[in-house]
Amino acid sequence: MRKKVIAGNWKMNMLPNEAIDYIQEFTPLVKDTNNEVILCVPYIDLFYALLNTQGTNIKVGAQNVHFEEKGAYTGEVSAKMLKSIGVEYVIIGHSERRQYYNETDESVNKKVKAAFENDLKPIVCVGESLEEREEGKTVEKITKQTRLALEGLSNSQVKNTIIAYEPIWAIGTGKTATSEDANNSIKEIRKEIEKIYGKEVADEVIIQYGGSVKSSNAKELFETSDIDGGLVGGASLKPDEFAKIVNYDK
Ligand code: 13P
Repeated sequence: MRKKVIAGNWKMNMLPNEAIDYIQEFTPLVKDTNNEVILCVPYIDLFYALLNTQGTNIKVGAQNVHFEEKGAYTGEVSAKMLKSIGVEYVIIGHSERRQYYNETDESVNKKVKAAFENDLKPIVCVGESLEEREEGKTVEKITKQTRLALEGLSNSQVKNTIIAYEPIWAIGTGKTATSEDANNSIKEIRKEIEKIYGKEVADEVIIQYGGSVKSSNAKELFETSDIDGGLVGGASLKPDEFAKIVNYDK
């Protein structure tokens, strides 16, 4: 049985004092869950989030990473740096980074490898645009992104990769993919992984859904056969709302 993994992506929100207040309110609300809970926070909040989640069941992730270990890359942060302060997860290839910062399938793959070299767990985002969806290219797009992101990884690394299927048209729009639709897309991603890495690996990979997840639709989405939790943007900014999503099965 795959575990449900529910991650909040705060994006560019939350000052350190807000992050601390959030975690204080959020921690008791999710302490009894069997689901994995991750907060992916801005770089400046990482240290505060790590300190304030010590001894709790909440894990901390970053939202991006550079693929080189160190060097003249002004403004960037490496996987080694993230690991050195105790970060465990990192989002890679979010559609906003692909769209605004020229993230490519190639750089995503390099970042995934850098994450594993430093013992960080990558959460790799894939998803089609509205145009691609309307042209019937959803499966082609998401299976290609998945294949290229995972290229050159070992079976055990693939097992430890979290994929987040986030249809771009559903991000921040209030439009959620239907649970059936999202589940079908995720099945296609799993099939692609099975083709390359075999069934045993594919059966273990956590594949989340992201795009306007909220407490009112989490249960329906997460109870499908192949959706293993969610990557939650806007609704993760309020501790009580995000806790309801984490506790969807209570
Ligand atoms: P929303 O939940 O705000 O639609 O954002 C989804 C997302 O991009 C998470 O990474």
